[in-house]
Amino acid sequence: MSTAVLIVGGGMITHDQILPTVLQMQRRGEVGAVSVVAQHGRTVKALRDAPSIQRGFPSESFTCYPDPDSSDQTPQPELYKKLIAALPPHSLVIVAMPDQLHFEAVMTALRHDQHVCCVKPLVLTAAESRQIEQEAFRRGLVVGIEYHKRFDDRSLRARTAYRNGMFGEFRIGTARLMEKWYYRSSNFQNWCTAENSDAFTYIGCHYVDLIHYITGLLPVSVTSYGILDKYPNGREGYLWCDTRVTWNNGAALNVQTSLSYPDDGPGPNTQGLTMHCSGDGKGALLDHSDQYRGLSYCFVKKPECAGGTYYAEPSPDYFQYNDLGEQGLTAVGYGVRSVEYILRQCMQTTGTLAERQARLKELDARAILATPANSRYNELVMEAGRLSILNGGREAVIAYEPEPTVGLKEYR
Ligand SMILES: NC(=O)c1ccc[n+]([C@@H]2O[C@H](COP(=O)([O-])OP(=O)(O)OC[C@H]3O[C@@H](n4cnc5c(N)ncnc54)[C@H](O)[C@@H]3O)[C@@H](O)[C@H]2O)c1
Repeated sequence: MSTAVLIVGGGMITHDQILPTVLQMQRRGEVGAVSVVAQHGRTVKALRDAPSIQRGFPSESFTCYPDPDSSDQTPQPELYKKLIAALPPHSLVIVAMPDQLHFEAVMTALRHDQHVCCVKPLVLTAAESRQIEQEAFRRGLVVGIEYHKRFDDRSLRARTAYRNGMFGEFRIGTARLMEKWYYRSSNFQNWCTAENSDAFTYIGCHYVDLIHYITGLLPVSVTSYGILDKYPNGREGYLWCDTRVTWNNGAALNVQTSLSYPDDGPGPNTQGLTMHCSGDGKGALLDHSDQYRGLSYCFVKKPECAGGTYYAEPSPDYFQYNDLGEQGLTAVGYGVRSVEYILRQCMQTTGTLAERQARLKELDARAILATPANSRYNELVMEAGRLSILNGGREAVIAYEPEPTVGLKEYR
């Protein structure tokens, strides 16, 4: 029988990347019934009626919870738990809800014997990630964390070249990811607020993960300075962050993140990574422009999507729909490859408990899939980043032995 998929959360990432990928896997016969659950019926109604989903997948279907056509819009924050409990064991649960809710949702899925794909960041503390790892291993279940930049061909190319010694050793670098200003008016203002998260936690984690993915280095300290700003609903968030992450070879990465990229700017954001390295008595350089991928368009009409501009620099690499003359459209890009990869790893983890546990160890060691065990440095950086930002930008240090811990640096 085909494996059922339940997507928990019906927001931006579900609309833009996860649902289209899963529906395409359904079209290809790789997965079975698909459901999406949000807190409100209106959220899943918007997904059901989304023009891109309707055009892309006219013959595929998914079930919406709560009832999208009901006039009752009372929030149902616990509904997803009942739906997880009703799934056959070893189904696929995709957690795509706000960062601070991931832990409870992932643990609920594991306790009901489901494999999990969770959007980044998995959780906000190392202790929670450890609990998830233990529960998943005890039951022989995969937890894959969706860091889609890992599946961008440029990241894979950099990883191979770095690991073949072509860049020498990373010493100093910068990364930036500024999302558009209009994000402030989205559902973000209800959860990406100062007490829960910040711009670095939300988007900076991508580049921290990439540095490890490319180099194998581990982060050892975080200094995160955040500027509070008001959302349209009056709530406050650290919407501008300047963060320094140091690594176990002494290297330093400066990461700037914000919700500030001009709505009239071309492309959906501005982002990129520069790494300065050294080896063999020479300097080396890796420089990725991750938003400008060589395309520049100027339209006669302004696209009717959020953030649409007359002049655009679109990225064809993350996600796009291609018309290959078939019924519906074909979703391509590293966003698609990433979700497909994780779900396939889950579905290939079968057999006895001992066999599944052996495979989990293999996935941890292979380290292409981000798992709780092999990417805990991300949770440590999240934890250290939150500690630092809430203490006015003081340095927070990460220790790995005997147990991974985070604390403010002491000055004598
Ligand atoms: N680049 C990336 O990898 C990337 C991009 C965007 C978002 N994300 C991550 O995805 C997650 C969601 O982000 P988003 O942009 O889709 O946010 P969003 O605010 O657009 O959507 C969040 C969704 O979660 C749902 N939700 C909240 N509580 C729920 C509950 N109790 N039960 C069921 N649904 C619930 C909301 O209804 C909403 O549909 C975050 O963790 C974010 O960090 C990752």
